[in-house]
Amino acid sequence: MAGENPFSHAATRVLAIASGKGGVGKSSVTTNLAIALAQRGKDVAALDADVWGFSMPRMLGISAPPELDDDKAIIPPEAHGVRLISMGFFVPENQAVIWRGPMLHKALEQFITDVKWGEPDYLLIDMPPGTGDVSISMSQFLPRAEVIVVTTPQIAAQSVAQRAAAMSAKVELDLIGVIENMSWFRGDDGKAYEIFGAGGGQELADHLGVPLLGQVPLVTELREGGDTGAPIMVTDPKSEAAQVFAQIAAQVEEIAPRKIYKKELRII
Ligand SMILES: Nc1ncnc2c1ncn2[C@@H]1O[C@H](COP(=O)(O)OP(=O)(O)OP(=O)(O)O)[C@@H](O)[C@H]1O
Ligand SMILES: [Mg+2]
Repeated sequence: MAGENPFSHAATRVLAIASGKGGVGKSSVTTNLAIALAQRGKDVAALDADVWGFSMPRMLGISAPPELDDDKAIIPPEAHGVRLISMGFFVPENQAVIWRGPMLHKALEQFITDVKWGEPDYLLIDMPPGTGDVSISMSQFLPRAEVIVVTTPQIAAQSVAQRAAAMSAKVELDLIGVIENMSWFRGDDGKAYEIFGAGGGQELADHLGVPLLGQVPLVTELREGGDTGAPIMVTDPKSEAAQVFAQIAAQVEEIAPRKIYKKELRII
């Protein structure tokens, strides 16, 4: 039997990291932003809702599956100050999972209700690319979620990113900002090379009327860290990219959630 939804009444801020298309760095951003918030002393949990391409266990360096407590509740494993639940813990590697809408809805519900989340200050959600069933389910389970859209700098990517934004409007989630990823590569000569173009993040943020929360450079260590479970926030917190994540975390903390938490509105 599914338990109670702990986020319907807890004062947890839920941040959904979304994008209109794959491969723009959602999982990398979710991982490093979660660690950045934990490094600020916050109690942080993450939910890898990318049921087709779960990558957060690898990025956080978590290989052990969750344990069950005496009540059979799932205890999320923790790394770098972040507790994580991922479909990757429940599905054997390399096994193709074909999810249909109702099954997916049920699985996400279990992730939320059958896990001993505690009362984290933040729950970050790594959303799958696109705007389908998962977004709709998440908005039903976590109606107070705030959406951050990740995009790349080329202007041509914006129509796709706008779709993610339009989706959050449709499901009535608050959009709080844009993060531009892969903004430049800094060569040994110290120069920033804008490999994927420039201006896309700012343009999208302006269009949506939300702040550009940060521009994350393209760095080899970030990719390597994602592959080996050694996130750049931990291995090189003074690096340019890690500093950007730290600044984004500080800004997120300054943004007051617009939907005020009211205990009397509690819905189970
Ligand atoms: N700023 C960056 N510098 C270098 N490599 C990066 C950066 N951001 C992401 N990457 C790499 O690009 C690849 C895609 O990133 P990531 O998996 O985070 O994207 P995603 O949007 O979650 O993708 P998917 O849609 O497949 O879930 C990964 O190999 C990651 O390590
Ligand atoms: Mg991903």
